[in-house]
Amino acid sequence: MVPIIGQFDISEFAKVTKLFLERYGRIVRLGGLIGRPDLLFVYDADEIERIYRREGPTPFRPSMPCLVKYKSEVRKDFFGELPGVVGVHGDQWRRFRSKVQRPILQPQTVKKYVAPIEMVTEDFIKYMENARDENGDLPHEFDNDIHRWSLECIGRVALDTRLGCLSSELTSDSEPQRIIDAAKFALRNVAVLELKAPYWRYVPTPLWTKYVNNMNFFVELCSKYINEALERLKTKKVTSENDLSLLERVLRSEGDPKIATVMALDLILVGIDTISMAVCSILYQAATRLKQQEKMAEEIRRVLPDPSKPLCYSDLDKLHYTKAFVREVFRMYSTVIGNGRTLQDDDVICGYHIPKGVQVVFPTIVTGNMSQFVSNPEEFKPERWLESDGRLHPFASLPYGFGARICLGRRFADLEIQILLAKLIRRYRLEYHHEPLDYAVTFMYAPDGPLRLRMIER
Ligand code: HEM
Repeated sequence: MVPIIGQFDISEFAKVTKLFLERYGRIVRLGGLIGRPDLLFVYDADEIERIYRREGPTPFRPSMPCLVKYKSEVRKDFFGELPGVVGVHGDQWRRFRSKVQRPILQPQTVKKYVAPIEMVTEDFIKYMENARDENGDLPHEFDNDIHRWSLECIGRVALDTRLGCLSSELTSDSEPQRIIDAAKFALRNVAVLELKAPYWRYVPTPLWTKYVNNMNFFVELCSKYINEALERLKTKKVTSENDLSLLERVLRSEGDPKIATVMALDLILVGIDTISMAVCSILYQAATRLKQQEKMAEEIRRVLPDPSKPLCYSDLDKLHYTKAFVREVFRMYSTVIGNGRTLQDDDVICGYHIPKGVQVVFPTIVTGNMSQFVSNPEEFKPERWLESDGRLHPFASLPYGFGARICLGRRFADLEIQILLAKLIRRYRLEYHHEPLDYAVTFMYAPDGPLRLRMIER
């Protein structure tokens, strides 16, 4: 199979996974990959559901081999016995996840971030207003600006700080600019390291060395802000848990700043590209599907009639159509192309005996668009998430995964997206007047090309 992968670019990965289904059927083994185990693609939502539901207490998601090497070999001195959740498995994963899961996923914690994320988003919208050209079009590199917004959001959530990434006057050696560059490097190069032949496993290639330096920068950054938070906490008046931020809760309950640092690092590592690419996709779809965008705008104005009133969690929760729009974008254009598990026990999948240790891939990008599982999948119809008629298999499209390992940042991701849409679409109509954009896999699945959206005041 190497020639087949060889003849496709990474960006065509979405097409290749679809082609497997068309050519070979609902279960496909991809073998002979250089430096990688065989992969088993399963295009059957019933089987995917069964596999997820029978996974034990420590599901194994084979992902991010570079990060695994970095955490477990290169910086073993720092990560030691509690290396976090991303790229960590078994008991170490379970112990770390159980320490941070409650504060991260509790709605009370997330609610506290409505106002801070709203402030970051207001700054971002001001930035967008100033960046428009005479037609109201955003610049070529607008997708980079979305990255700055997501960095600023994650800095507020994971490090209790405003990083300053949305400032328009950044010198090349300023900290925010270095953070932006480091995030950009990770975005552009991790896909190359992880999806192409992994020579870095055997020799330290120049790209690998840069990756390690880049990771060291993130570790230092997190340590710096966690130490500052720790100092603040020493003198902070706390009457109840509710006075504490996510970071402070973890610092207080665990008493070991290393845990907070590793948690912040993990959130940053996976919480920038995912949300930025999802937002690129959602805004592009809104700008090219005006009828549905108008329905969102109507709903937002109805639920939030006074634009000067600060947002609150319960109002955002009432934006049912807006949430369904986002869900439909995830179904049709799954930002994370798929999820996967390494089987912990032998299993029978689609009638084949599959031994333990095999890496099973759930190609959400394909299953979310299969007519066996979703009625009229080619139709973009947010209403399908609000009505009960029609086929909609719950395991065909799972943007945040499922079970004990489900996305740890999903409540923050939903909150950030809802706040951005509520503030932006309420005030502006988004349009798009350039060549249609194709979707491509650049690690995530997103529109490929300059996202020159037009912002028109409503
Ligand atoms: C729209 C944006 C996002 C999408 C589509 C997404 C999707 C996913 C998926 C599919 C997984 C794998 C789940 C599984 O194995 O079942 C995952 C894991 C994870 N995500 Fe997200 N994610 C998003 C945003 C975020 C954000 C903003 C953060 C951080 C604040 C975050 C933190 C994590 C972490 C830490 C894990 C690893 C969990 C573990 O292995 O225990 N994600 N995400």
